[in-house]
Amino acid sequence: MLPIIDWPPCFFGLIEGMQLKHCTWPQVEEYLKHKQTIIQPIGSTEQHGPTGIIGTDYRCAEFLAAAVGERSQTLVAPPLCVGMAEHHMNFPGSLSFRPSTYNAIMQDLFYSFAQHGFKNVFFINGHGGNVIPLQNAMCEWKARHDSLCFYLESWWRMPEVLAYEEQHFGDENGSHATCGEVALTMFSDAEAFEKIEKQNFKVEKVDYQFPLSAKEFREKFPDGRMQSNPGLSTKEHGEKLFHIACEALLERLSRLP
Ligand code: NI
Repeated sequence: MLPIIDWPPCFFGLIEGMQLKHCTWPQVEEYLKHKQTIIQPIGSTEQHGPTGIIGTDYRCAEFLAAAVGERSQTLVAPPLCVGMAEHHMNFPGSLSFRPSTYNAIMQDLFYSFAQHGFKNVFFINGHGGNVIPLQNAMCEWKARHDSLCFYLESWWRMPEVLAYEEQHFGDENGSHATCGEVALTMFSDAEAFEKIEKQNFKVEKVDYQFPLSAKEFREKFPDGRMQSNPGLSTKEHGEKLFHIACEALLERLSRLP
């Protein structure tokens, strides 16, 4: 595992340095003369069990992307806050694009990046349901264009993150509303958790096969968790996971041409 570095205090405040939303077009034009990589955080707005916030997936991606962009001096695009979350639609508050809509959005986004001369698009992903639609969109783009190189890192799937979760949460980490992602949002969005009562949950094994319809998902996982006990999540774990994930993402980003 990579060493955990001490981040300067400013990294825990508002991280705004390398955000596209705060650039002028001449600044972007200048950036592109030196660097053609953009970080694109993607996530989802969907239920995360009874004690996880609905913005979990996009907040994790956005929070990590901001830190990684600042640290590597790489431009960060605005997060795509809605993803492919059809299977969560039987829980109030979840928002979703259909896979076909997601593909159409991605084609337009890729066109935008290519039009301005970006070469590398480094996705920091916070939601498992995005992976197949995004890979499909990448394939469609590459079938018709010679531009753009795509890199996809789902932060919770990186071995460095998995090792920490295995050590601290074991079988109770689960695969949705996981201890790890809830912990990271306790660190990124601490104030939201002041209104949420922490609970411990029993983890039960359930047989299932993806894809699931929204009805099937709720029948299999009535409270929205998938075999996780987010009662183990703490802000302190979230802070450690933040450092581990940032270091791992920076290492992946450093491999880009
Ligand atoms: Ni999630």
